[in-house]
Amino acid sequence: MTVNAVTIDVVILAAGQGSRMKSALPKVLHPIAGQAMLAHVVASAKNVNADKLHIVVGHGADQVKAHFQSESDIAWAMQLEQKGTGHAVQMALENLAESGVTLILYGDVPLIQPSTLQALINLVSDQQLGLLTVNMDNPTGYGRIVRDREHNVRSIVEHKDASEIELAITEVNTGIMAVPTAKLHEWLPNLSNENAQGEYYLTDVIAMAVGAGLTVETLQPEFAEETYGVNNRQQQAELERWYQGRLVSALMTEGVTVLDPARLDIRGSVRVGRDVVLDTNVLLEGAVTLGDGVVIESNCVIKDANIAAGTRIKAFSHIDGADIEQACDVGPYARLRPGAQLKNGAKVGNFCEVKKSVIGEGSKVNHLTYIGDAEIGKHANIGAGTITCNYDGVNKFKTEIGDGAFIGSNSSLVAPVSIGENATIGAGSTITKTVESHKLGVARGRQVNLDWQRPMKKS
Ligand code: UD1
Ligand code: CA
Repeated sequence: MTVNAVTIDVVILAAGQGSRMKSALPKVLHPIAGQAMLAHVVASAKNVNADKLHIVVGHGADQVKAHFQSESDIAWAMQLEQKGTGHAVQMALENLAESGVTLILYGDVPLIQPSTLQALINLVSDQQLGLLTVNMDNPTGYGRIVRDREHNVRSIVEHKDASEIELAITEVNTGIMAVPTAKLHEWLPNLSNENAQGEYYLTDVIAMAVGAGLTVETLQPEFAEETYGVNNRQQQAELERWYQGRLVSALMTEGVTVLDPARLDIRGSVRVGRDVVLDTNVLLEGAVTLGDGVVIESNCVIKDANIAAGTRIKAFSHIDGADIEQACDVGPYARLRPGAQLKNGAKVGNFCEVKKSVIGEGSKVNHLTYIGDAEIGKHANIGAGTITCNYDGVNKFKTEIGDGAFIGSNSSLVAPVSIGENATIGAGSTITKTVESHKLGVARGRQVNLDWQRPMKKS
């Protein structure tokens, strides 16, 4: 962490409509890697120890604010009409500190890295501001960086206002800049909208700075993608792919085997032990921890889960909110829902669903079974097609199954109910009463064999 000696205000511009997304959702709430674009920007701003975070909202303001409800330290500024980037910053001006540094970011430029922002902030003094620029083969639409013979920045000219000669400039404004706050208070009220777009351009502060004798120091980001904005679904998908590449590569650097880096997606934070293997088409969401030697086979979705060393999640499993201890065996086609806890060496096989239940050490739930609100002891065997009937339509009830119990196939355990240690349930039973330890519970119609002639078709 860096500690800044001066006050840092961060202003994030997020009032634009994003009409090209053709969406009911405000553009800045569209996700990259499962997280709203604006949330990425907020996280980066926090990472450089912003003293105050200002977000300028307009279109969809209520939705945007609601998304960040839990973050009480954001100062919201309202821009009712979008009259340009300079006008947008004006909306936050009265809440900025008197001095220090103001960093300007865009809510639709999600992947700016904190290291880049810190470097930009470090350029600022009373006599200097920092501007993030990139070189583009096709700079169409962007503001051009105009420099003099000594290569000093003189101004930014917007594409629509640029001369033929200026249009040939390939160094463009990313929009991200760091400015001495005291100067911003001076300059912003003096912006004019006499330009091709009739807007108040934030970029005009560059010429004002130069006019006042300040220097404009430029900086390029490590990756151009950090400064890419999202205006449509195509650009969103392009940034998503780039970012996934970065996230997956970071996991591989930590020692994870990824069978196809293009077919792993990460939408959250992943912690890994040694020699984890991730097969093709795996999606990791939320907070996921994978212990040493964990193998996730193809086509699994793993969300908010702890999976301890030596466990294998077989193909096509869906894991959400589960805590899985060591050397467990899950799937193929298993579904673990929130509150599923698998103790060491437990097995949950194909087409089984487990919700808010403990599967004890070495216990097996192998085929076509639903276990909900249950506590299963050690080394129990739950036969194929067993159902815990945990819900009466209103209330949920608990099923207890003791160590070493054996539940015959196709049994219904009507909760609340308790099956004792080493008890056995006969296949096809509907169990509604306690079965004591070591007893055999059978609750099904007795078999009768009758003499019987099947009806015959008339020929
Ligand atoms: C701006 C820059 C341009 C730069 C480009 C980089 C200006 C005048 N131009 O151009 O030099 O190359 O970004 O992408 O600054 N916004 C508001 N309120 C407004 C206007 C914009 O909140 O009134 C927000 C938008 O939602 C967006 C950001 O500011 O997040 C940039 O706006 P946009 O219209 O994309 O800027 P450009 O005109 O493309
Ligand atoms: Ca733009």
